[in-house]
Amino acid sequence: MTQPVLEGLRGVVFTESKLAFIDGEKGILKYVGIPIQELAENSSFEETSFLLLNARLPNKSELEEFDAALRSRRVAPAGLIELMRMFPKDLHPMHALRTAVSSLAMFDADADNTTEAGKLEKTYNLIAQMSTIIAALYRLQQNLEPVAPRADLTHAANFLYMLHNEVPSPEQARLFDIALVLHADHGMNASTFTGIATASTLSDMYSSITSAIGSLKGPLHGGANEAVMDMLEDIGEVENAEAFIGAKLERKEKVMGVGHAVYKFFDPRSRVLKEYAAVVAAKHGESKQYQILNKVEEVVIARLSAKGIYPNVDFYSGVVYSDLGIPKAFFTPVFALARISGWMASIIEYTRKNSILRPTVNYIGPDEAHWIPPEQR
Ligand SMILES: CC(C)(COP(=O)(O)OP(=O)(O)OC[C@H]1O[C@@H](n2cnc3c(N)ncnc32)[C@H](O)[C@@H]1OP(=O)(O)O)[C@@H](O)C(=O)NCCC(=O)NCCS
Repeated sequence: MTQPVLEGLRGVVFTESKLAFIDGEKGILKYVGIPIQELAENSSFEETSFLLLNARLPNKSELEEFDAALRSRRVAPAGLIELMRMFPKDLHPMHALRTAVSSLAMFDADADNTTEAGKLEKTYNLIAQMSTIIAALYRLQQNLEPVAPRADLTHAANFLYMLHNEVPSPEQARLFDIALVLHADHGMNASTFTGIATASTLSDMYSSITSAIGSLKGPLHGGANEAVMDMLEDIGEVENAEAFIGAKLERKEKVMGVGHAVYKFFDPRSRVLKEYAAVVAAKHGESKQYQILNKVEEVVIARLSAKGIYPNVDFYSGVVYSDLGIPKAFFTPVFALARISGWMASIIEYTRKNSILRPTVNYIGPDEAHWIPPEQR
């Protein structure tokens, strides 16, 4: 018997979660009940990761302990760094990141431990080392030596330090920290669902995160922030923006960084990032990219808001990352760097009451057919 098809699984509820709450009509996002704006203003990536993993805020000593555990695990296996030296230099970093995270399993003798304690152990390692891996990938692609992590810096500051071999200013570190908090989780998005689908077979955590990274890579998901920067380059000048967007819509092409499967109003994360992009612009002068972005936002809202299409998180993140010296090709890896906490928290939450994911399709092929020899076809 056929059933109504819910395209893209929209509206299908397959589990319960205490982690992210999203009201797409009103543009609300909360982690464990706390509005994202409050977390962006007050929390750190470390604290937000604890919040997601434990469904509650840590007290002071719990946070110190969690932070210390992450700091002590920052060094990636030497064998992995050696392997990464063999990666082609012109490889897109998301291919490299996916391969590196997959390879991490080979350096963990306990890779298949999927007990609660085992999953937490992998979580700490992955949160801590993803940062080291991404920074090393960047430096190796630039023919530079990877920079060893420092345990005396925050997660955000240490990443920027390993990227540029220079300790960032407190303002830069805080800006990056806020971007990490904003990207740490987002409910049942495609990559989280992909990670859960893999984990639901009781496969190992490295396989689950490798699957999630593959899903995040697509331009309709995590790859959109890079596509926004490409679009700004194609537009070139502010005065071209209106005609460029008009022509794109005429050709029925999507404008990158706008529209969302859930939000039919402003994505609250884009509003926070817009505020910080404005602070950066006020401090360093408005870049041409920033001016074009503002114009594109104006045109998109005028032309597409009736359809519920507004800027999403990827719209402003690129200009913020550019200001921090993060190259465009590394925007999506940086997204993964933040989302690892949400992925792990969702996987751990789901697999506590695990049920292997196995949806169904309405079969529309022939009722009956028979094999015939090739010469008679
Ligand atoms: C994110 C996204 C895939 C969500 O899509 P969705 O909810 O499935 O919406 P649909 O693709 O079904 O589009 C619904 C309508 O809005 C239009 N639309 C959606 N996103 C659009 C965009 N970015 N630019 C122009 N039109 C868009 C569609 O053309 C469609 O119009 P129609 O009804 O006249 O055919 C989509 O908005 C998109 O591709 N955005 C650009 C990529 C991006 O920024 N992704 C990052 C998400 S955080």
